[in-house]
Formats: sequence, structure tokens, C-alpha cells
Amino acid sequence: MKKAYRASLLRFDDAGLPVFDEDGLLVVAPDAAGRQRVVDAGSHAAVSPRHPDADVTHLPGRILAPGFVDMHIHFPQTDIIGAPSPGLLPWLENYTFPAESKFVDPAHSREVADVFFDELLRNGVTTSLTFATSHVASVDAFFEGAQRRRLRMITGKVLQDRNSPDGVRDQTEQSLIDTESLIRKWHNVDRLGYAITPRFAPTSTDAQMRGAGELAAKYGDTWIQSHVAENRDEVQWARELYPKSRSYLDVYAGFGLMRERAVYAHCIYIDDEDRRLMRETKTAAAVSPTSNLFLGSGFFDFGAADRIESPYGLASDVGGGTSFSPFHTMLAAYYVGRTTVEGIQTKAGLSIPPSRLWWHHTGGAARSLGLDGVVGNLQPGCEADFLVLNPAATPLLARKTKLANTLEELLFAMIVLGDDRLVERTVISQAG
Ligand code: GUN
Ligand code: ZN
Repeated sequence: MKKAYRASLLRFDDAGLPVFDEDGLLVVAPDAAGRQRVVDAGSHAAVSPRHPDADVTHLPGRILAPGFVDMHIHFPQTDIIGAPSPGLLPWLENYTFPAESKFVDPAHSREVADVFFDELLRNGVTTSLTFATSHVASVDAFFEGAQRRRLRMITGKVLQDRNSPDGVRDQTEQSLIDTESLIRKWHNVDRLGYAITPRFAPTSTDAQMRGAGELAAKYGDTWIQSHVAENRDEVQWARELYPKSRSYLDVYAGFGLMRERAVYAHCIYIDDEDRRLMRETKTAAAVSPTSNLFLGSGFFDFGAADRIESPYGLASDVGGGTSFSPFHTMLAAYYVGRTTVEGIQTKAGLSIPPSRLWWHHTGGAARSLGLDGVVGNLQPGCEADFLVLNPAATPLLARKTKLANTLEELLFAMIVLGDDRLVERTVISQAG
């Protein structure tokens, strides 16, 4: 049965430029697997005559937009959002590791996973590349929850067999056995995907990193996720642990952990040679501006990434990040873009166009994850995970969005003033 939604419609072309139909029509129909996909999209006048059989839902005053894609988030850190700390390493020690140690308990894992999915969906995030913890129970709880909700979601067991306290530290050999079993159990089941997840180089032995690289080669369509070059003390620590590597990022390259579908959070203290390596290996950066501002980590260099054409997309990095809302993340990315930095890290200030910020949190993020044409857009063929936005959700939003003369002004009003109240409904491409 074909369904159609009539409202304003935002999507992106192949170049990542926005396409907006003031009076649009989105037509969806189930595929062979029973999953709703976009079959047609465009102006109501052009699309409607092609689908006289569609059951049309009219949503006046609303905007249909692709579900957001969060390229880096930690579901077990839901409860430690806003934990104050002088910086990354004490934050990990004092808040993160104690909170994550509780995920040895399957019931706790399930309870937090439920809260996490509710929060993602309320905020319009339909796909995320997600850290679990080092406990198998956390991965099972996450995938079970995502499967029940029929979401396209990616996670993996964290690998951390050194420099980690009791309660989160794992055992080298067992960690790799568990990773492979979890890949076999969950990867490509329904819309679920597995990510091989070394926490970061300082907390994995060479043997664990090597094993992760071997699994990444053996299961070539899995994801890889980790952290790199987020904080000066962390970079210094990695340099001491790997004195022979050209750079911190190069440590991962040496273990075969840079390839398509590999995503590294932060990438602040990297150079152009690292960026070229990312471009050549199709490895993406997950830019996490609320986290970087909150933890005082530094400022991602959008200009340098664009100049080198190294792939990246936006991410909340909850709980280092302070919000599940993509609107907050896009606004923080704009602030970070604005910021000029001189010194160890040097970058020029920019004014990133609102449609570009939006692309980097939807279709661009999906492309960086190797999911181009699957999620993050509303072009024909895409899975129909989409949002019904109410641009009049608050009095000020109503006023500002009505005053907008251009698409960029409209998008910027929503980025600057928006939060979960803008997301009236999150529609998931369900089976059946
Ligand atoms: N580096 C290693 N682990 C973490 C983490 O949990 N959060 C952040 N922001 N950085 C990390
Ligand atoms: Zn992170």
C-alpha cells in the first residue's frame, strides 16, 4: 500500500545541496522485505499525478525532513551528561568508567538502552554509530532494543584491555572472541550493524589492536569506531605509548584500522598528512562540538577538512556531549566553525551555511558511514526514516520561521532556536 505525505519537504541532491519544496509530496511504499522506502519525492504538483492510488496524509504548516544521523554517541553515558571535570582524562576516570562498569548487569543495560532510544527518537535521530561498553550484555541490550523498534543502528563491544580500572577492563583474547561472536550474532540482522570498537589507542594493548584490525579485515563491511586526538593530554599520552608512530592517527593505520566505514571521534589535533590519509582510506571524522566545548578539548578545523576533502559528519558524543538534540549540535558546530585559533592548533573562522550543517548531520553523515542512499535523505530508494517538524513549535520559532525569506534563513532559525519541541513526529520505516 502506497502512502503519501503532503507538507514542505527538505532533501539533498548528490552534491549535498538542499532541495526544498514548499508544497511537497513524499511517497513511500514497502519493499520486498516489507520496509517502507521513498518511491517518489518532489513538488506536490509534479509528484501527485504519478500516484493517484496513494493514501495521502496532509500536514499543513509542517516540514518533512530526513531523520538525523549521529555519527558518534555513547548509550551507556546517558546518565552522565553534564558531569563537570577539568578535562577528558579525569572525566573518564571519575565519571565514565564508574558509570560504564554497571553495564555488566543486563537489566541495567536494557533500562538505559530504552531511555536512550526514547531520547534519540524524541530528538529526531533515527540512526547512530554508538559506543556500548566492554560488557557483552550492553551490546545485546542495545541491539535487542533497536531491533524491537526496527531501527537502523550500529554499535559494538568496547575493547579496552589496559590502562583501565577493574569493572571495565577486558581480557585480550576473550574480548576478540566476544567481538567475533557478536558480529556473527548481530551484524546485518534486520537493520543492525556491528562496529569494531577499540576505545582509543591508550587503553588497548598491541595484541588487542592487532586482533581488532584482523577482524576488521575479515569482516570488511563492519564498521570501526574509536577516538583520536581529542585532548592535548591524551595526545601526549598516545605519543609516549607509541613513540615510533608518525602521528596518533597513524597508530590506527598501523593496525589496519583505517578503511571505509571507519569513524574516529574528534580529530582535533591532526595535521594535513593525517587528513590526506583519512581521505585516501575513506576514514571519517565524527565531529562532536558540544563535547569538545564542554570538556574544553579544542576546536575541529572544518576549513582544513573541506580543503583536503577528508570525510566528516556531526555527532553528539553524549555523555561528553551535552545534548541529544541535533539542533544543539549543529549550532555548536557553527560556533566552532566561527572560532579562530592560533598556536598549537591553528584554524581560521568560518560561517558554515545552515544547509551545510544540516547535510553534515543527515545525508553527509550517512555518506561518511557508507550508508549513502540508505538513510539520511529522502530521495527515491532511501529507507523512509523521516521527521515531521513543526516550525511553529514555540512562539519565537513561529515568528522567526515565518519571517524567513530564504531557505538558509529558515534552516538557521530552526538550528538556532530548535530542540526536541520542533520534532513533532519521528516516522520509522517499519516492516509490514
Ligand atoms: N576517549 C576515550 N573514551 C572516551 C569517551 O568515552 N568519551 C570521549 N569523549 N572521549 C573518549
Ligand atoms: Zn566518544
